[in-house]
Amino acid sequence: MTGSRLLGTGSALPERVVTNADLARQIDTSDEWIVERTGIRQRYIAGEGETTATLATDAARAALADAGIAASDIDLIVLATATPDNTFPASATKVQHALGCGPCVAFDVAAVCSGFLYALATADSLLTTGMGKHALVIGAETFSRILDWDDRATCVLFGDGAGAAVLGAPDNANPASAGGPGLLASKLHADGAHHDLLYVDGGPSTTQTVGHLRMSGREVFRHAVTNLSSVLGEVLEQAGVEAEAIDWVVPHQANRRILDATAKKLGIPGEKVIVTVDRHANTSAASVPLALDTARRDGRIRPGDLVMFEAMGGGFTWGASLMRL
Ligand code: COA
Repeated sequence: MTGSRLLGTGSALPERVVTNADLARQIDTSDEWIVERTGIRQRYIAGEGETTATLATDAARAALADAGIAASDIDLIVLATATPDNTFPASATKVQHALGCGPCVAFDVAAVCSGFLYALATADSLLTTGMGKHALVIGAETFSRILDWDDRATCVLFGDGAGAAVLGAPDNANPASAGGPGLLASKLHADGAHHDLLYVDGGPSTTQTVGHLRMSGREVFRHAVTNLSSVLGEVLEQAGVEAEAIDWVVPHQANRRILDATAKKLGIPGEKVIVTVDRHANTSAASVPLALDTARRDGRIRPGDLVMFEAMGGGFTWGASLMRL
């Protein structure tokens, strides 16, 4: 059972933009190298006073306004992040307090770049089983704070930001399964065997430090295209939908070449893929809701559209969801 409906979206970005040229003044890289390998032209980097929770709160506020839902009507907050403000409590509880939501359920989900997909499926399950009527599903990150700024192979790839969605419980009078708006299918996966290809080399229970992101880019690239193509096929099969019926793909924005290769494997034309990696870089769990909000606000994604979300990240974790808006 599934079928939660998207009622609104919002996003937030730090004030400071850092271009490839700005980075090239600090480390041995170039705009040409970054654009050619990744499609990234700039990223936003959090400054003093900007944290994962403040960005998440701003994105959530915008999503509530878009949905026309009051903070007091939120029953559940699921915040996907790998860069929480503190080891505990969950940053979701900071967002709850800042928004004035009242005593709702609030917790974080750690699935790195697939975090929003994990949070969406979790919130949908809880709404579908009657835990509440309205949920805030947020992806928010400040990856700039776990990057090794001396490692040019990773530090050029990531940025900070947040995106949020307000979900409403399934409408039994007009369910997604009968053509109404709502989530049609979700698939999530994890495979811990590849831990060392993409991880952070610190943590409270190992080094008692925060640590820095480490990645074997080439191997991650290979796994990403294979895993994403296969999970997209699984979701289409579960929903009983052909790839041609998809109006938009909103992918995790890791790398332009991964987006292109995955769409090509599925036979989905490039014009149907929402791309924001050029402006936002890889914002991990924030990238799917940031891209969704961007494309809804610029009028591309409209009510009634069939939209596929997909992401893959450290763990490895990966997943996809199909939703009719
Ligand atoms: N600027 C200039 N040169 C750089 C560089 C940078 N920022 N980073 C690495 N290089 C150099 C390397 O040192 C290497 O030089 P060498 O050949 O002299 O040793 C060369 O570029 C190629 O490095 P390599 O890592 O093999 O490049 P690549 O073609 O695999 O591209 C990535 C690197 C990271 C862009 C690519 O592997 C990738 O996008 N992987 C997926 C990463 C990802 O999206 N992860 C997140 C998933 S959630």
